[in-house]
Amino acid sequence: MPSHDVLVIGAGLAGQRAALAAAEDGASVGILSKVHPVRSHSNAAQGGINAALNPEDSWESHAYDTVKGSDYLGDQDAIEIMCKEAPNEILTLEHLGVTFHRNEEGRLGTRAFGGASAARTYYVADITGQAILHVLYEQLMRHDEVYRYEEFFTTTLVLDDDGHVAGCVARQMRDGTMELFAAKTVILAAGGNGQIYNPTTNALICTGDGIAMAYRIGGPLMDMEMIQYHPTTLAGNGLLITEGARGEGAHLYNAQGERFMENYAPNKLELASRDVVSRAEQTEINEGRGFPDGTVALDITKVPRKRIHEALREIVNVGRDFAGVDITREPIHIKPGNHYTMGGVKTDKDGRTEIPGLYAAGEVACVSVHGGNRLGANSLLDTLVFGRRSGKHAAHHARNHQMPEPPHSHVDDEEAKLRELIGRERNGRRVSEIRTELGRTMDEHVAVFRDEGGLLEAAQTVQRLKEEAKSVAIDDKGNVFNQDLFGAIELGFMLDNAECAIVGALERKESRGAQFRTDYPERNDDEWLKHIDLTLDGDRPNVSYSEVTITQWEPEERKY
Ligand code: FUM
Repeated sequence: MPSHDVLVIGAGLAGQRAALAAAEDGASVGILSKVHPVRSHSNAAQGGINAALNPEDSWESHAYDTVKGSDYLGDQDAIEIMCKEAPNEILTLEHLGVTFHRNEEGRLGTRAFGGASAARTYYVADITGQAILHVLYEQLMRHDEVYRYEEFFTTTLVLDDDGHVAGCVARQMRDGTMELFAAKTVILAAGGNGQIYNPTTNALICTGDGIAMAYRIGGPLMDMEMIQYHPTTLAGNGLLITEGARGEGAHLYNAQGERFMENYAPNKLELASRDVVSRAEQTEINEGRGFPDGTVALDITKVPRKRIHEALREIVNVGRDFAGVDITREPIHIKPGNHYTMGGVKTDKDGRTEIPGLYAAGEVACVSVHGGNRLGANSLLDTLVFGRRSGKHAAHHARNHQMPEPPHSHVDDEEAKLRELIGRERNGRRVSEIRTELGRTMDEHVAVFRDEGGLLEAAQTVQRLKEEAKSVAIDDKGNVFNQDLFGAIELGFMLDNAECAIVGALERKESRGAQFRTDYPERNDDEWLKHIDLTLDGDRPNVSYSEVTITQWEPEERKY
């Protein structure tokens, strides 16, 4: 049985950073991923990574912007850590070989991003995530202590009799072999759950696996209702047009040619925080000032062409290939679209969950540094800072623990479940049908604007889909890359994620950050300045609350 001090599940930026940190601390590390690591969703992060590195900037200013961006739901102790440790993380990456943009003086150059009071976003054109991911992967390959299990699909986490994490069960995708992994510690770094929406900017692999696996073994989830809609996505397919475009000077217009952000955020305009810009766009569309295709226009021609080709070249390709638009010459139609999960597995500042030995980092986790709304370019930072901290802490924890010996029955149980799935007669709906209905339902009712009626309808639909998923049909009966089977397992994870998001959204009877309830349009600090925690109870989430940590920034009215 493979056994490791630290087992990392997910090989995007959080997972790779965690693995490196644990290996540097002397741990033996295994890193599992259902895709090749450089195909992880971190690859899609375009615009950059925030840090107050410039002498005129300060970590306090970065932290304040983040707290305000979070609509005061972020935990300020964790935010302070993230912002203090950011500059060092950028320098480490640069020294490892990330080719960050340099300005005319040859210094690291920045661009502006939403909700920030200084231009503090470091970037590699509009492929920042991809650039960092490849450099970290090179570093991982240098480490003999890191064993990579590429294209292994984790189906469940395993606990020992004392409730300490003991490893996981995974299926090798290439041939269907089931494997039991023993581990003194497990770090979940399996990303967010964007695929519970349709459309979404998220890759097909973002199905909330890590969130659901932690929840199923009793790990509390936090603030699952906080789901970010990014202001600039292509209608229909949800592809991301980076916020970097607005950072470089692009403007938003409605169909009447009005620069409407003047009415919603007169100081920051297009660079207000994402929840504010998305709501403004959706209001324009809902009130009939959008285009007939349900969009508004992003005019990137305001940015000099040379600069677009230098700094925004990926979205030149996206505009041309997916919308037939040359963004250097004409505006492109965009709308708010699902982008990011602020909630997730509840952790402390070292990535520890409430299950001993189980850690979580990156989008799967809720530390919480993003609260009700994440600032653009803080997610790469979150993955790196809390990935590193989790890796280091897990390595330390492992030093004081014996290697567990989980019984083989864990594999037998999982194998039996999958055999039953594959062997089923074809009388149920297809995975893709249920998945599409789920995505459309979430996008209709759990979106930029929400209300009780819509949320209850979504809750009912998800309950029905959960029933239908019990008899979902699998056409592929084979063992080699059986994507049909993996799709069915992911569907179960997604339905758990969706149920929790809806329960959280129904519970929070106020408007804060990404949660705008038209039936409770005000923020209500007296009753709702608190986290919503969800724990599996039977087959339903049980609701409890936890305090928001305030260190130095008392809640105030948010204006941009
Ligand atoms: O717009 C973007 O480039 C996305 C960045 C982010 O979500 O941090």
